[in-house]
Amino acid sequence: MDCFRIEGGRRLSGRMTVEGAKNAALPLMAATLLADGPIDLHDVPDLSDIRNMMRLLVELGIEIDESVPGRLRFQTVDPTAIHARYDIVRTMRASICVLGPLLARRRRAIVSMPGGCAFGSRPVDLHLRGLEALGATITLDGGDIHCRADRLRGTTIFLGGPFGSTVLGTANVMSAATVAEGTTIIESAACEPEIADLARLLNAMGARIEGAGTPRIVIHGVDELGPATHRVMPDRIVAGTYAAAAAVTNGDVEIAGFPYDALLAAIDRFQEIGVNVERLDPAEDPTRCTVRVTSERSLRPTIITTQPHPGFPTDLQAQFMTLLCLAQGNSIITEKIYPERFMHVAELSRMGATLIRQGPTVMVVGGRELVGAPVMASDLRASACLVMAGLAARGETIVNRVYHLDRGYVRMEETLNMLGASIERIDDRELVGEGVAVEA
Ligand code: EPU
Repeated sequence: MDCFRIEGGRRLSGRMTVEGAKNAALPLMAATLLADGPIDLHDVPDLSDIRNMMRLLVELGIEIDESVPGRLRFQTVDPTAIHARYDIVRTMRASICVLGPLLARRRRAIVSMPGGCAFGSRPVDLHLRGLEALGATITLDGGDIHCRADRLRGTTIFLGGPFGSTVLGTANVMSAATVAEGTTIIESAACEPEIADLARLLNAMGARIEGAGTPRIVIHGVDELGPATHRVMPDRIVAGTYAAAAAVTNGDVEIAGFPYDALLAAIDRFQEIGVNVERLDPAEDPTRCTVRVTSERSLRPTIITTQPHPGFPTDLQAQFMTLLCLAQGNSIITEKIYPERFMHVAELSRMGATLIRQGPTVMVVGGRELVGAPVMASDLRASACLVMAGLAARGETIVNRVYHLDRGYVRMEETLNMLGASIERIDDRELVGEGVAVEA
């Protein structure tokens, strides 16, 4: 398995560009099941999760043409396939977002029930409740969700749950409702920018969706959807991660393709901490602009609570924890989306961080020096926070299991090295002789 060997203490500087958003691209790709095509998607990032989704779509009868660089073309060749098997779903929870499109287009869908993940149980009850409200019959058999509907009918659906709305649940219900009879209203819909991006593609395909990006989405059903071309929005979490990486090294980095408007809560916290995210050309499109990230000499502590969009994103919680380890004073982080999403706490502690956890809240005792150590990545964002800690630490850090990182960041070590970091990707078997390889 690959790991990163990071030599800490180097200041990041230079310029980079943010890639297309994984969490936008996955439901966009699933939406291609809704039409015969061709559907062209530009700026789909080259990530292992994307490859898994491509594998799944091919199994579901979609042909994917990669011959033009930067573009994926999707076309239905076998409309009879309906089974998303456990083999693929277990590698990627986001496979659940084929459920709505499959059901709507092929009237039947069998999707393996996604399991839990490193940070909690992650149920799909809201997805199912939404599809049932549209008229689907749903049963669970052999670990698979069986979904059937001879016709879908528009209705009003409330998608709020105990932790807010559901992003992929909103994507599923909104996608299915595009071809339902009549009008569907989703109340308490997820407001994440990735939902608005999905609605842009669906509308380009001929759907009639209003209000995506707000808690109330109205979908007027149409008979069928057709070909379209769409450019995936830039990845706000990748953008926020690199901005935080610049800050932990007291760097000076220009980031192009920065989705400023989608990151206002994180930018607000950066400013509070003493990290400046300055738009270089205020006239530039705020959904994709260039910013310069610099930080003040001494960082200030703050309070962060993760919330559904437009609140502070859970997917940046771990990275901000690393940043706050370097602040002069104590910070409080509360996780309100995934109260168990703290696998990185123990690993950061191995690097000298002082973190006191009580339930969904962690107190970050600032002003402690981070010291390099072998650490274990447990999930995508936790891996990113450990790489950042390695950049800021004195000495050498080994981050094991970086396959988690490869799910959501395109060759992160290359981008960081281009900015002046010193990161080597190596096979962990090479480390056995050095006594730092970590058992699986
Ligand atoms: N929830 C329910 N019932 C459901 C669905 C969700 O109770 O039917 C709960 C979840 O357990 C959680 C909350 O609602 O407490 C929000 O979950 P949501 O459904 O919104 O998450 P998701 O759609 O499965 C997406 C992202 C995650 C991101 C979350 C929250 C993708 C592929 N995944 O997941 O991204 O953390 O929204 O913003 O879009 C990541 O990229 O690292 C990642 C985990």
